[in-house]
Amino acid sequence: MNQPQHVAIIMDGNGRWASGRGMPRYHGHRVGAESAREIVRTAGELKLKALTLYTLSGDNFKRSKRELGFIFALLDHYLLRERQELQKNGVCLRVIGSIERLPPKTQSMLQETEAYLQAGKGMVLSIALDYHGRSEISAACQRVAELVATGAMQANEITDATVANQLQTVALPELDLLIRTGGEQRISNFLLWQLAYAELYFTPTLWPDFRAADFLVALEAFGKCERRFGLEQVSMTTGSP
Ligand code: FPP
Repeated sequence: MNQPQHVAIIMDGNGRWASGRGMPRYHGHRVGAESAREIVRTAGELKLKALTLYTLSGDNFKRSKRELGFIFALLDHYLLRERQELQKNGVCLRVIGSIERLPPKTQSMLQETEAYLQAGKGMVLSIALDYHGRSEISAACQRVAELVATGAMQANEITDATVANQLQTVALPELDLLIRTGGEQRISNFLLWQLAYAELYFTPTLWPDFRAADFLVALEAFGKCERRFGLEQVSMTTGSP
């Protein structure tokens, strides 16, 4: 089966999962963190090269202080509890987006965990926090403009690769598959540039219910896709008479 190297996930539906059970939203996040744990472990076992989790968008900062506080506390708890196992499995952790608006404790927890796992030679786990796809691209454009302004390159030398080299995902393999749970079929400002050739997999399953078996179903669907990258069907391009 054709296995993706880099999978990104929009983990949606925690709130609905909880309210559907008459529980407060934070309970959905707590169970959602268990889903995240299971998917990270499964992705590592399958030897994926990269897994990118949309943990908090820039827009999510509009949520109540109480809910955000709970998500940050959950993240602190997760990072501390999982560190050793992630290290044992060779996982390397990175944050994309920005940690500036996060509580100081969560910022240090992320920095410490990144340092703790930096020698990991296995899967790269990227956690997107306060992430905005459009802002990532405009920041990349600013840096390219600086290169031009300082004479390091000419405007007519700018290529796709020039921009891609300035993105936070520069060290990662091409994004192959985006999974979104929770039933919505949109991208929500996630990895806009990187999604150019990715397959999209939408499922109504709410994130707290999305576990290893569901992940395998998504990977299997990917395995069946014929990826043409804009080419004609392979059978028509192989030159067979
Ligand atoms: C989306 O559900 C989920 C979030 C905004 C928070 C994501 C956090 C976690 C999954 C837990 C922590 C993760 C890790 C990696 C430890 P929603 O609240 O938007 O759900 P709704 O659409 O039903 O309201």
